[in-house]
Amino acid sequence: MSAAASALEPTPVVSSEPHPVNGYRAFRLGSFKFERDEYFAHIGWIGHNGKAMSHSLDAGDFLRALMRDLAWGFFYGWVNFDDVIGTLNHYGTVDLFAGTYNGNFKQAGVDLLENFPTEQIRATFLEMIQDWTNAGFDPFAAPQETGSPFGRKNGNNNAAINRVRELATRCVGLDGDLPLRSDARGAPINRAFRDVPQDEPEIHAEPGFEKEVHAFNLFAFLSRSQVTWNPSFTSVVKYSFMCPTTEEHKLPIIHGNDRVEWFFQMCDEIHWDCGDKNTGAPMARVIMKAGDMAAMPAYCRHQGFSPKRSMLLVWENGSPNIVYEIQQGAAPEVPVEF
Ligand SMILES: [Fe+2]
Repeated sequence: MSAAASALEPTPVVSSEPHPVNGYRAFRLGSFKFERDEYFAHIGWIGHNGKAMSHSLDAGDFLRALMRDLAWGFFYGWVNFDDVIGTLNHYGTVDLFAGTYNGNFKQAGVDLLENFPTEQIRATFLEMIQDWTNAGFDPFAAPQETGSPFGRKNGNNNAAINRVRELATRCVGLDGDLPLRSDARGAPINRAFRDVPQDEPEIHAEPGFEKEVHAFNLFAFLSRSQVTWNPSFTSVVKYSFMCPTTEEHKLPIIHGNDRVEWFFQMCDEIHWDCGDKNTGAPMARVIMKAGDMAAMPAYCRHQGFSPKRSMLLVWENGSPNIVYEIQQGAAPEVPVEF
């Protein structure tokens, strides 16, 4: 392992030379080791009881999860790559853990959690996904819309990895804000949404309010999403973030909430597995069909399965204080009490 630092890279990324046969570099972050081969990502660590541990994930599953963790800036709360490995965002630092939120690993004492400055884990994950993603594999795309993640190292797909998340300041389509999606902007209608009307609403604003009164066709906007499980911000009012997204196949991570999150199923359906965020113990199975709404309480983790491409509106409370208010008991873990 060697640490390569430069003036532009204040946090050195620790990695090996490329493997002589499969071509991938190995990475180290704190005492965690990351290696990939033709089919799998392997993570190694020493459990807090002193036992040497290893854990393997399908390389495609690992890269899809890694992509979300990076693109979402470590997101709200927990990003579990699976039942063992994941990150917890402290908004300035990030925990990387193995088994810490798995009841059985925890009980056996083979878990490990280490905390890193956000920039250090981000830089390491970014180099890892750039090195481990082959040409033709897009970790943001639905499995039917991309090539294979497997095999020996074969080029890269940095264009896909470095997509910028679409974040409106006020509302999509407003003057000076994020523009609407179009063929010309490289956003054709997805194969699953060819029947979605593309007409836009008529807006008749009073003189002087032309840049304030606004509306757009959200279904048309979503029909042109090129990625899956990657919420964009379409409207922002103080800390109320409307984050619609298109979903297909499975959510590549298991999201553990540090606040309440609302879901509105806009079309088709998603099946959710919900569990205890600390142990992973199953709690509920939620089948959401078009028009259904649900809220994920702050004590749960959840993973969605979308049998065909569907539209989901995720409503996030982006307050920087809400997570601490919940921890202190000043705000509830549930959206409503009956
Ligand atoms: Fe979530």
